[in-house]
Amino acid sequence: MPLLEVRELKTYYFTLRGPVKAVDGVSFDVEKGETVGLAGESGCGKTTTALSIIKLIPPPGKIIGGKIIFEGKDLVTMKDSDIRRIRWKGIAMIFQGAMNALNPVFKVGDQIAEAILAHEKNVSEKEAWERAEKLLEMVGIDPSRAQDYPHEFSGGMRQRAMIAMALACNPKLLIADEPATALDVIVQAQVLEVMRNLKTRLNLSMILITHDLSIIAEMCDRVAIMYAGKIVEYGSARDIFKNPQHPYTKGLIGAFPSIRGPKKSLQSIPGSPPNLLNPPPGCRFHPRCPQAMPICRKEEPKVVKLGGGHIVSCHLVG
Ligand SMILES: Nc1ncnc2c1ncn2[C@@H]1O[C@H](COP(=O)(O)OP(=O)(O)O)[C@@H](O)[C@H]1O
Ligand SMILES: [Mg+2]
Repeated sequence: MPLLEVRELKTYYFTLRGPVKAVDGVSFDVEKGETVGLAGESGCGKTTTALSIIKLIPPPGKIIGGKIIFEGKDLVTMKDSDIRRIRWKGIAMIFQGAMNALNPVFKVGDQIAEAILAHEKNVSEKEAWERAEKLLEMVGIDPSRAQDYPHEFSGGMRQRAMIAMALACNPKLLIADEPATALDVIVQAQVLEVMRNLKTRLNLSMILITHDLSIIAEMCDRVAIMYAGKIVEYGSARDIFKNPQHPYTKGLIGAFPSIRGPKKSLQSIPGSPPNLLNPPPGCRFHPRCPQAMPICRKEEPKVVKLGGGHIVSCHLVG
């Protein structure tokens, strides 16, 4: 049984102008010890998917369908009091832009200790502080720096402190939403290295959200490519990068340089993702698709299984 099973998840934002279909029938699994990448351009529903999994969707957002099975229990129908027990200890999240969310007036160590004290019983303040120091050490920060205030940390250190904080209660699943996006390339590589180490050391399961496919290629076992609220292609990282089938996946791969591969000219996909108040009919990618056919404007493509868990939703395939 996978650690997490997301099935036909639908999360809409009920705005005054109508429902924004941010997540519209999304399914994927996360196995124990596995890192699953959720990739796609900005506005495709990645963050909303993550917030749905920890049940922290801001209003006017609401899960209106589907299941989120974590360790055999459905989080969609679970009581809030039970969800609170799963957050931090079962599933922890590093929020998009989190490194700027540290409180400037408290020591970094105190903030991590506070997270431990808030979520675990029978822990003394001294124990919590010592655990905070250990956590900082685990992300490559000297434990003496627990005494520092956030402004004394560099951007990369603050981001690593947020990773340490997310791991404060030994979660089984870590969701990291664009954990390296605001950092320069060298610092980005350091943060990803820390995450890779943790993954093997703690046998952590991870959902890594990014618009940057070169990060996915470096970090992930499996990949879900998201476009306009739907997963358009899903499979092992190997299948997705060696044998991409969806024109959107191919476009994204063409839009990013590989870290190790030969330099090639980058082509970005013209246009931008649709407004999800009113997504295009048929295949939501058709207005931008270089290979769109008449059927793509009318009929939503079915899921085609290509073997080995590789699936794609595209009229060009199958
Ligand atoms: N609070 C909100 N109210 C209304 N619409 C929202 C809200 N938050 C996000 N959205 C919309 O939901 C869609 C998905 O957003 P998001 O999940 O943030 O995507 P991503 O993380 O892939 O950039 C976008 O069209 C966005 O405009
Ligand atoms: Mg986002």
